[in-house]
Amino acid sequence: MAKSPSFSCSACGASFTKWSGRCDSCGEWNTISEDTGLSVGPGAKSLGAKRGTGIALSDLRTEEAPPPRTASKMAELDRVLGGGLVPASAILVGGDPGIGKSTLLLQAAAQFARGGLKTIYVSGEEASAQVRMRAQRLGLGDAPVQLAADTNLRNILTTLEAEAPGLAIIDSIQTMWLDTVDSAPGSVSQVRAAAHELTTFAKRKGVSVVLVGHVTKEGQIAGPRVVEHMVDTVLYFEGERGHQFRILRAVKNRFGPAEEIGVFEMTGAGLAEVTNPSALFLSERGTPSPGSVVFAGIEGTRPVLCELQALVAPTPHSQPRRTVVGWDGGRLAMILAVLEARCGIPFAGLDVYLNVAGGMKISEPAADLAVAAALLSAREDSALPADTVVFGEISLSGALRPAPQTENRLKEAQKLGFASAIAPKGGKAYGSQGMTLNLMSDLTGFVGEVFGAG
Ligand code: TYD
Ligand code: MG
Repeated sequence: MAKSPSFSCSACGASFTKWSGRCDSCGEWNTISEDTGLSVGPGAKSLGAKRGTGIALSDLRTEEAPPPRTASKMAELDRVLGGGLVPASAILVGGDPGIGKSTLLLQAAAQFARGGLKTIYVSGEEASAQVRMRAQRLGLGDAPVQLAADTNLRNILTTLEAEAPGLAIIDSIQTMWLDTVDSAPGSVSQVRAAAHELTTFAKRKGVSVVLVGHVTKEGQIAGPRVVEHMVDTVLYFEGERGHQFRILRAVKNRFGPAEEIGVFEMTGAGLAEVTNPSALFLSERGTPSPGSVVFAGIEGTRPVLCELQALVAPTPHSQPRRTVVGWDGGRLAMILAVLEARCGIPFAGLDVYLNVAGGMKISEPAADLAVAAALLSAREDSALPADTVVFGEISLSGALRPAPQTENRLKEAQKLGFASAIAPKGGKAYGSQGMTLNLMSDLTGFVGEVFGAG
């Protein structure tokens, strides 16, 4: 029998076969100790003869009303939350430093407070005066939000318990510290313990808690991933620094659909809601040029059109470059391989750049065909008609697979003035929504028809 690991890290739970001073998994010091027996794993001790007490069971069929929700009146935020804030829920808002998390949550706090929900905003990063100044700049100076600037979680929890707000915002979880944990604020064990205290407090006292978490480069400071499993809802605030668009994305939601997005624009007066993201993402599009293709995508429950841009150029290097912004690099390699193997179109000796315009990130496989179209259009130096959208998944055999919610994609494209769509054949029948449909069953047919080559 293989020897089972007999050392584990008290901060992250990783197992090791030998002791060391620093945990390789989470980077904490002095957290590795020899397992004494009562742990999970092959070497775990059995529970023995001592019995626990019985726990109450309830019936699955019991009727439970859906949770009441409080809307913030920021439609983009409410949708991402699944229709509003659920009482006693714990929400994590993660994102790069400087992306706009504090701005978003200050605006949300003001909206909730104005709607009558008692709201407390605890900043561990800025003094109350700084937060107040920001609020004034955002035109929120009159909102009845209570402010605190502290990092001692014991004091914060005592205050929250006494004040009994409906919503507490903790900005950020990395600055909070508990005196029961030895390590420094921001370490894995502090972040985890603080998040645990706050989420159990939310459930016990019926207070909704929002935790702000900075995404950090792997290193000493623990990122939001460490607490994702503890909270009900995980939202990520994304965007490119140089762009004004910001996307709030639900990656986990116990009370609503995941992958829902809310779109905002960072302006001089804070975050403005973008109610028609397709129009915004396409607003910078000029005359049709080779390599530019409009993809009709779905984000959560909502159709979103955006522009894919490709550039293909002979490489001066022995290893051609493959650079992707806003899409998956592995998926790009796959599309290039399928184009080469199934359609005989090589990209060897060519640098390939792919960009999703506007700082949008796409993860849908339905973007495959639009990516292939952009690559071919760039390679052949031939632009697609300006009024055409493209979508569909490509399989390794070169066959095209129908994309979900085809009708919604077509409807959105039609609404924005597009007249035709290139999409996969098959699947269930759908109405053309007033569009001219160009349906294809495989990639070779697509290449032949659209670019007149095989
Ligand atoms: P912030 O909310 O502090 O980011 P985070 O909490 O995620 O670290 O936002 C910081 C950036 O937002 C900062 O670079 C300035 C910009 N900003 C605006 O452009 N307009 C505004 O009205 C505000 C408040 C901030
Ligand atoms: Mg901040």
